[in-house]
Amino acid sequence: MGKKVLVLYYTQTGQLTEIVNSFVAPFSKVGVSVEIVRAKPKNDFAFPWTSERFFDAMPETVLAIPSPMEKIELKETKYDLVVFAYQPWYLSLSIPANSILATDEVRLILEGTPVVTLIGARNMWLSSQEKLKKILKELGANLVGNIALVDRSQNSISAITILHWMMSGKKDKYLGVFPKPGISDEDISNAKVFGKTVLKFLQKENFDGLQQQLVNQNAVDIKADYMIIEKLAPRLFLIWANLVTKRKNRAAWLVVYKYYLLFALFIVAPIVLTVNAILFRPFSGKNIAEKKLYYQGLK
Ligand SMILES: Cc1cc2nc3c(=O)[nH]c(=O)nc-3n(C[C@H](O)[C@H](O)[C@H](O)COP(=O)(O)O)c2cc1C
Repeated sequence: MGKKVLVLYYTQTGQLTEIVNSFVAPFSKVGVSVEIVRAKPKNDFAFPWTSERFFDAMPETVLAIPSPMEKIELKETKYDLVVFAYQPWYLSLSIPANSILATDEVRLILEGTPVVTLIGARNMWLSSQEKLKKILKELGANLVGNIALVDRSQNSISAITILHWMMSGKKDKYLGVFPKPGISDEDISNAKVFGKTVLKFLQKENFDGLQQQLVNQNAVDIKADYMIIEKLAPRLFLIWANLVTKRKNRAAWLVVYKYYLLFALFIVAPIVLTVNAILFRPFSGKNIAEKKLYYQGLK
């Protein structure tokens, strides 16, 4: 019987559409039926962002509060594989991605179904994936693979270029000198290699060993520096999210949060990473290797 694959995702800029299309290209070539559903919130997030709206999205993202989605129409009642493509916001699942998983249609489909997650991030997706693993487990889905595409520029540089992209709507070189923001065209095109690997296991009707093969193909490249930031930052975001939502003057608190975030990104993070590189990293090779293995895995 022909295999049926469902791809579920949301995108604001269209970057994830390009990734998804590249990823599924090998499937369509061999006649696997691929249904691609781009979900939309009822009140979609306008792109480009204004600075106010960008920071205003933080509390509900971090607190994982879903927003109403337009009805997700699916052709089938069962699929051989679901590809859930998503983007992290504030080290959590983006509000639309989290909201897709809160819809009855999707919850029903995911139960007992193999799932591959396909991430299009700046460079920090570890915490959001941990949250997603938990949601998928609660829904009875079977996570069989994970692929994470990221912006390969240095952390502070990609923070500048992504802010330029988000606020201007242009995925181009900021001031003509910075690198292009987001995931490179080459990496987007290369997503078809991972698609081919997933297809091979789909056709075998057995996903054992898929993730190891994806890891061998560099589908989940994990940097020690980002593991440190992602260990520290989610707790701070949670404190801010609670603070902002519990106070009366939300707008004023969000302005404070904005300057906190810029300070943390451009001043604190480089200091923490430099101190760590000099004082701790030389002595924690084994620990780092174990953590990398964990994040590359599915457990
Ligand atoms: C509000 C907001 C917060 C974001 N936070 C993160 C983050 O924590 N980690 C990360 O790697 N990327 C982050 N990004 C980048 C997105 O994950 C994504 O790569 C980019 O917005 C392209 O989105 P699209 O798939 O909707 O087109 C953020 C983007 C936005 C708009």
